[in-house]
Amino acid sequence: MAQQLIDGFGRAINNLRISVTDQCNFRCTYCMPEEGMIFMPRDEILTFEEITRFATIAARLGINKLRLTGGEPTLRKDLPVLVKMLADVPGIDDMAMTTNGFLLKKMARDLHEAGLPRVNVSIDTLDRQKFKDMTRRDALEKVLEGLEEAEKYFSLPIKINAVAIRDFTEEELVDFAALARTRNYQIRFIEFMPLDADRTWTRDQVLTGAEIVDKISAIWPLEPVRRPEQREPADLFRFKDGKGEIGLIASVSEPFCANCNRIRITAEGKLRTCLFSLNEIDIKALLRGTASDEEISHTIIDAVSKKEAGHQINDPDFIQPERTMSSIGG
Ligand code: GTP
Ligand code: 5AD
Ligand code: SF4
Repeated sequence: MAQQLIDGFGRAINNLRISVTDQCNFRCTYCMPEEGMIFMPRDEILTFEEITRFATIAARLGINKLRLTGGEPTLRKDLPVLVKMLADVPGIDDMAMTTNGFLLKKMARDLHEAGLPRVNVSIDTLDRQKFKDMTRRDALEKVLEGLEEAEKYFSLPIKINAVAIRDFTEEELVDFAALARTRNYQIRFIEFMPLDADRTWTRDQVLTGAEIVDKISAIWPLEPVRRPEQREPADLFRFKDGKGEIGLIASVSEPFCANCNRIRITAEGKLRTCLFSLNEIDIKALLRGTASDEEISHTIIDAVSKKEAGHQINDPDFIQPERTMSSIGG
């Protein structure tokens, strides 16, 4: 089907991130508050049929990549059933999930059998106590077991996401780099973004991509991997001696918004045209009302035509969205 999703800046939109739940079994400090998180009522969450209908309409417009996110997507009951439904949507040629890995030991096989080819796993530290401090759960061991299980089923290298925070991540850069050099993992450092529930983000906490490359290169020299047309947020670097690669998602210091290819739908059916959108379009009202597929198509095309140029993190009048990362899905 011809690409019909071109935004006002000429960017072709082909990537839909679907948040399947806002619930999470962790409470990462940079994402959720320790207590008092109010979750969406169950009947407000899109059903599998509603998600699949939306994805089918979006695929007819040119979406060919889907990513399942949360909260923590594996907490959505019967997730493999949804994976199967989405794998059968005509026009989708890449599907992946971003997970904290805690339930992968139990679920990797079922998810893969249902048709999920790829997972990205979030691990911010390799130190048990720091992991506990960061996620407020003593769960590193279980996550590492989940990762091992994932290696049996999903495309390699598995991408590991580590949010890079100053005074937290530096001392582990070499350990992470060593892991990328010895295992089939692509470690991706993500600059800390102002999407935390506690609203404690400050610019000086952002450990930048450039600093990370310098620090790792001092031990094992890195060189950039040039890609012809990069639409993903991660810049890739390979070790000059050929042993593995790492990625940098430098959203704050080097925004990649000009190449953005994505839109998002939240668990309760709000369409967001930017991670940092201040406006949302209520798709659930259309899905649960009498709207035809054509009307929903028009709504998507219209929303995409108004997609934001980019985030405003570096502007003095930046406004943090109401939603936290956990109810957007990254
Ligand atoms: P791949 O297809 O595997 O490259 O996926 P991905 O890197 O797009 O997805 P993932 O969910 O692993 O995202 C990694 C990090 O990139 C998360 O912290 C996301 O919040 C961030 N990210 C993803 N999309 C965007 C985006 O559009 N803008 C910004 N600023 N950050 C993004
Ligand atoms: N800044 C950067 N990345 C974040 N993530 C969650 N919150 C933030 C934040 N404030 C990451 C998670 C996960 C992905 C979906 O988003 O660690 O890898
Ligand atoms: Fe859960 Fe992911 Fe937020 Fe951590 S970052 S609390 S794992 S949704």
